[in-house]
Amino acid sequence: DVMKELLGLRHLEMSLSQQLGVKQVLVVAGDSDEDSWVKREMGRACIGELKARLRPKDVVAVMGGTTLAAVAEMMTPDTQTREVVFVPARGGLGEQVENQANTISAEFASRAKAQYRLLHVPDQLSEEAYTSLVLEPSVQDILKLIKSASTVIHGIGDAQMMAERRDSSGSFIDKLKREEAVAEAFGYYFNRAGQPIHKQRTIGLQLDDLGEHKYVISVAGGRSKAEAIAAYMKYRPSDVLITDEAAARSLLRVP
Ligand code: BG6
Repeated sequence: DVMKELLGLRHLEMSLSQQLGVKQVLVVAGDSDEDSWVKREMGRACIGELKARLRPKDVVAVMGGTTLAAVAEMMTPDTQTREVVFVPARGGLGEQVENQANTISAEFASRAKAQYRLLHVPDQLSEEAYTSLVLEPSVQDILKLIKSASTVIHGIGDAQMMAERRDSSGSFIDKLKREEAVAEAFGYYFNRAGQPIHKQRTIGLQLDDLGEHKYVISVAGGRSKAEAIAAYMKYRPSDVLITDEAAARSLLRVP
């Protein structure tokens, strides 16, 4: 892509791929902290990658967030998308409806003219409620589908920001600070070394389910997310990272 060469984005992609140990990095122009269209550009890139891999009857698990909502907006139908099933990767994690994984998975499906299944799980689950809910046959069915996903698409957040957005208690936020949490993904909080240090209890994909056989696409941009991206990629380098120029430059410390 000539435009990318001209903008120097190709160089950022290659350097980032090396630095993070991520096979494929795609960098779009701009800073999604500043301009909302940048998220849709990351979305366009993500849909391109997704479609290049999708096979009929594939199960695609998606997470929540404003970035994933923008990705879903860019979905379009295609011959190979009709039999694909979209599912939320995990249950409720304290988001507004439009940014919940359930809503986003339905949006992907409706734009792709594909199938979707919902996972109805409340945000705050006690241990007892969790234990009995996972035993419900209907929940077991969709859980099986979620775990069978060939592809996972997710966002990455700054740890403090996500804890605040989820209305976490002051004591929890203090704990994250003390333990130097910098990243959040899938409802897990990670320190700078990429070690998971706290997990939000909900049904669905657990970190351990992200085995080598799953194709994982991470979409996260904005200067404010550079540290979070670096930390999470230490835990599990994704198959594809889609980010923006501001995050890339900050990660590579190039002005
Ligand atoms: C949340 C996910 O819905 O979105 C988080 O549960 C993720 O795992 C976050 O980090 C990303 O949000 P945004 O709005 O920055 O794309």
